[in-house]
Order: sequence, then structure tokens, then C-alpha cells
Amino acid sequence: MDKIFADNILQGKVAFVTGGGTGITGGVARAFAEQGAKLAIVSRKIENLEAMKAEVEAFGGECFTVAADVREYEAIENAIKQTVEHYGKIDIVVNGAAGNFLCAADQLSPNGFGTVVDIDTKGTFNVCRASFEALKESKGQILNISATLHYLATPMQIHVSAAKAGVDAITRNLSVEWGRHGIRVNGIAPGPIEDTEGMKRLLMPELKEKLTRKIPLGRFGRIADIENAALFLTSDAASYVNGVTLVVDGGSWLLGTSLT
Ligand code: COA
Repeated sequence: MDKIFADNILQGKVAFVTGGGTGITGGVARAFAEQGAKLAIVSRKIENLEAMKAEVEAFGGECFTVAADVREYEAIENAIKQTVEHYGKIDIVVNGAAGNFLCAADQLSPNGFGTVVDIDTKGTFNVCRASFEALKESKGQILNISATLHYLATPMQIHVSAAKAGVDAITRNLSVEWGRHGIRVNGIAPGPIEDTEGMKRLLMPELKEKLTRKIPLGRFGRIADIENAALFLTSDAASYVNGVTLVVDGGSWLLGTSLT
């Protein structure tokens, strides 16, 4: 993609990114590092982070890795503490860690439902809560990765829909409560993104063609589309944007084709 932003728009910033090793949030983390941010990336398994660390260090960026489960408050508190000790501060927190699988509501166990809510919703709260003091100090910001599944109704996704509705509520609530402290809180709701591992596996060529016709902008999204939205929201260009979940889906959900 052609260059869109000026160079180094996040120079000097420290970004703490959960789920930042792979997928959409991995792309966001790498884009932040390319724009000068120092990264701390967090995942349940440290091996999920190694490739991203190597990639970032190869272009001269800094990448600190921490293994922690967003469901465990103490582990997250410790990850935040280690990051502040390592870099001296945190400016940007990205909540990207998420759990997902397809399952019909009448087949889903209460524990299956609760597990996704614990990762997505409680995990987002845990990370926000644990980073509050650091963000208050830096007048930083939070970016929550959400979805469009819950705007209408998405079969086989009751657990993720409920979890992401909760994430959107957290975005709005904290933007009001923590806006007073100079902390901006926003979200991104990605639509159908073609270059994630999950979508690559799912998208047979015929299915892709059929689905593409249903997307108002006539193409699937790319991880780079989400990276650009994340760079805008976390840059000074969005310094008066607070409490917004920016939908980046080519208009898909308006036709009931969220595809995510
Ligand atoms: N269908 C139905 N139920 C499922 C399921 C599936 N595909 N996967 C997990 N569950 C249920 C389990 O049966 C269990 O409920 P039970 O105790 O009543 O049987 C509950 O969810 C917890 O499962 P478990 O595997 O112990 O949880 P975990 O914490 O190890 O992992 C996930 C949970 C969601 C992360 C896991 O399903 C997973 O690895 N998903 C794929 C990776 C992923 O989600 N990546 C993010 C993409 S956005």
C-alpha cells in the first residue's frame, strides 16, 4: 500500500498490545513499531510473540514480550509493571486478545460462553484497570478491538456477540470516566478481513467471490485497513476523538453481511 501517513507519527510512544503477536492486532502492533513506537506485546504463550519480536527488531524497532493471560488480573498487573520498569511509561494500550469459535447457542456450554466473555470482556477490563495509573501519568489512550457481530444477530456467535457488546460498553464508559484524566478511549470494529489465518482457511475461491459481491465497497478488508484506522485513532490527528468505535468494514454490516 502507498505511504499514507508522515513518518514516525508515534515516535517516543510506548504501546502495550495484548494479542499483539498475530492476526489483526499483530498488524497493528507492527504498524505502531514502524511508526516509531516501542512495543510491549502480550500473549498467553510466549512462542506466539517470537516471530513478531524478530520482525520488529529486524527493522530496528524495540519489542518487549510478556506471557500473561488477560483473564488473570495479577498476571496482567505484573505485565504492566514489567513494561513500565522496562520503558519507563505506557502511552497506548491496545486490547486485541480474543477467543473465538463457531458454535450454535443450543450446543454451547455455559463454560464455553463464559470463557469467551472472560477473555474478551473481562480481559479488556482487566488490562484497562491495571494500566489506569500509567495512562493517567502519560495522558495516554486505549484502543479496544471489537466486532460488528452484535449490531444485528450473527448465528453461531452468541458468545462473541455478547462479549464484544460488553467491550463496546467498556469503551464508552471509560471514555467518559477517564476522559477527565486526559485518557482517550476508542475502539475499532473490523469487518471481513481477508488476510487473517482464520479467513484464509475459511475462504474457498467460490465462496470469496460470492461474499465479495455482498460487500458494499466490493472487496474484503485487509489487515492494513485496520492498521491505518488504528494509526489515525492513536495519533494526534484524533486528539478530540473519544468514546468512538470506528467501524472498518466497507459498509458490510449495514447489509447484514458482517462475515466476521
Ligand atoms: N465449540 C464449542 N465449545 C468450545 C469450543 C468450540 N469450538 N472451544 C472451546 N469450547 C468450550 C469448551 O468445551 C469449554 O467448555 P466446557 O468446559 O463446558 O466443555 C470452554 O469452551 C473452555 O474451553 P477450553 O479449551 O478449556 O478453553 P481455553 O481457555 O483453553 O481456550 C479459546 C478458549 C476460546 C481460546 C479456544 O477455544 C481457542 O483456542 N480458540 C481458537 C483460537 C482463537 O480463538 N483465536 C482468536 C481468534 S479471534
